[in-house]
Amino acid sequence: MSQSTSSKPLALITGASTGIGATYADRLAKRGYDLILVARDGVKLEQLAAKLSSENRVKARAFTADLTNATSLASLEQLILDTPQISLLVNNAGTILPGGFKNSAVDAIDGLIRLNVTSLARLSRVALDGLKTHANGAIINIASVLALAPEISDPVYTASKAFVLTFTQSLQIELADSGVYFQVVLPAATRTDIWAKGGKKIEDIPGVMEVEELVDAALVGFDNKETVTIPPLQDENKWLALDNARKALTPEFLQSHAAPRYR
Ligand SMILES: NC(=O)c1ccc[n+]([C@@H]2O[C@H](COP(=O)([O-])OP(=O)(O)OC[C@H]3O[C@@H](n4cnc5c(N)ncnc54)[C@H](OP(=O)(O)O)[C@@H]3O)[C@@H](O)[C@H]2O)c1
Repeated sequence: MSQSTSSKPLALITGASTGIGATYADRLAKRGYDLILVARDGVKLEQLAAKLSSENRVKARAFTADLTNATSLASLEQLILDTPQISLLVNNAGTILPGGFKNSAVDAIDGLIRLNVTSLARLSRVALDGLKTHANGAIINIASVLALAPEISDPVYTASKAFVLTFTQSLQIELADSGVYFQVVLPAATRTDIWAKGGKKIEDIPGVMEVEELVDAALVGFDNKETVTIPPLQDENKWLALDNARKALTPEFLQSHAAPRYR
């Protein structure tokens, strides 16, 4: 793909071979984005790139990478550095632990953190300087409602998504004057392959959203320049109340002495 000859915006999507990432690829192609699609399954990526290119008159290319592998991640980072035309980064690739914490091997735990946390933070940093050169530079990070619900799922996945939420909120504040827009999306249960891969039955979950509805709603939040988008949350005021309660704690933290209950 020759980026220099295209006048279209260019988006890079991780985890684009299936599910939410593949649906973002479809929707962004329909919006006229050229695409770089990243995942491990090169065959699926090539098929999707060919389909989206022919259907939407955009240029789409596959980039095969295992984001838990340092060498593979470094090659993607170099691609990003070499491609300042990228104006949108969608950090979507993610995984769950099949067995929860107590049944998971340390390498599986480490792999989840490398994918869900480390690669997302590294790619955000590597892409940032290029994104700043665009009028509409943006990063979309895919978290989960589990970031707000440690009671529901396994500790490592839940905490990884809490990282994505806090990371994005903090980025939006630190880089408010950069011209780059940061959005974090918190899906709840969405019908994708992630459930079967994690050995979980989606049929057992009440209230599963179709992936197209999830991504279309997330893109409404994107168009509205929301920082935090929670597609299934019907009453937005509940999120605003939580966020305001959290912010009200901040002035309480700066104290020279411990609270009386600790003395
Ligand atoms: N579905 C839900 O209910 C739900 C809810 C909340 C949040 N989310 C989040 O949404 C995001 C997308 O998940 P999904 O539901 O669309 O699941 P999915 O269908 O399993 O898609 C995951 C994507 O990540 C890629 N991926 C997995 N491991 C990778 C690795 N080591 N290196 C590079 N790419 C890798 C997969 O492709 P390859 O296998 O080809 O590498 C695939 O494209 C994840 O961050 C997930 O945590 C999902």
